[in-house]
Amino acid sequence: MPRTKIVAGNWKMNLDRAKAKDLAAAVAARRGEAAKVELVLCPPALYVETVGSALAGAKSDVRLGAQNMHDKASGAFTGEVAPPMLVDMGCGYVILGHSERRTLFGETDAAVNTKTKAALAAGLVPIVCVGETLEEREAGRTAAVVTAQVTGSLAGLSPGELEKVVVAYEPVWAIGTGKVATPEQAQEVHALVRGLLAGLSSPEVAARVRIQYGGSVKPDNAADLARQPDIDGALVGGASLKADDFLGIAKAFA
Ligand code: 13P
Repeated sequence: MPRTKIVAGNWKMNLDRAKAKDLAAAVAARRGEAAKVELVLCPPALYVETVGSALAGAKSDVRLGAQNMHDKASGAFTGEVAPPMLVDMGCGYVILGHSERRTLFGETDAAVNTKTKAALAAGLVPIVCVGETLEEREAGRTAAVVTAQVTGSLAGLSPGELEKVVVAYEPVWAIGTGKVATPEQAQEVHALVRGLLAGLSSPEVAARVRIQYGGSVKPDNAADLARQPDIDGALVGGASLKADDFLGIAKAFA
C-alpha cells in the first residue's frame, strides 16, 4: 500500500480571525486540485473553531490540526489546552515538538514523548517534529541529533501507535530562512528516520509511517522534494498562509 501523502499548513501565530476564515474557505474551495493528498490546516488554537466551521461549511475533507497541546486531559494548568479539548473542537491532528517549541519554550524529547502518547490516547494524530540546527549540521552531527530526537520523542509506543504518527523532518536552518534542504539532503535524513522507526517497531510498520519535510517549502521546490522515495508530504509554514502557494505545494505531492 503506498503511503497517502500529507501536506499540513502550520500557520504559527499569524493571521486574524477574518483572514483565517477566508484562507480556510479558499483552501476548501480548491481542495480538488490535490484530491489524493491529505490536507491539514493548523491555525492558532484560538481560531481552531473558526477554521473548523469554515471547513465544515464548505463540506470539505480538509482536516483540522493544532500547533501544540498540554499532555494532561484536564486540570490546573493555566493557559494550556488539553488534548480532549482539541478533539472536542474537531481537531484530528496536533503538531508536537516543533523546533520553535523546543528552542523558545524548552520542550525536551521527554516532554514531546509524553505529549505524543497523550495525543494518541486522545485519538489525535501527532505530527512529531525533529531536525538539526546549522551548527549541528556543520559539525557533522545531523544523524546523531535526529536519532536522539526520534528515539526519544517516540520511545515506548506500540507498533499500532507508531504507525499512526506522522514525523516531520524540519532542519532548523531551513525554517523561515528561504534556504530549503536539497532533495538529496532531505532524502538522506528521511531514510535515516525510516530506519530508526524500523528499529523501534518493524520494517513493515516503518514502511507505513508518513515522514514530511518542512523548511522553506514553496511551490517551486516542492516537486523535487516530492520525487524522493521517503518524502511523504510537507509541513509548510510561510507558504501555507497563501491558498495559491499551499495548493501549489499540495499539487506537487498529488
Ligand atoms: P517555513 O515553511 O516558513 O520555513 O516554516 C516551516 C515550519 O516551521 C513548518 O512547521
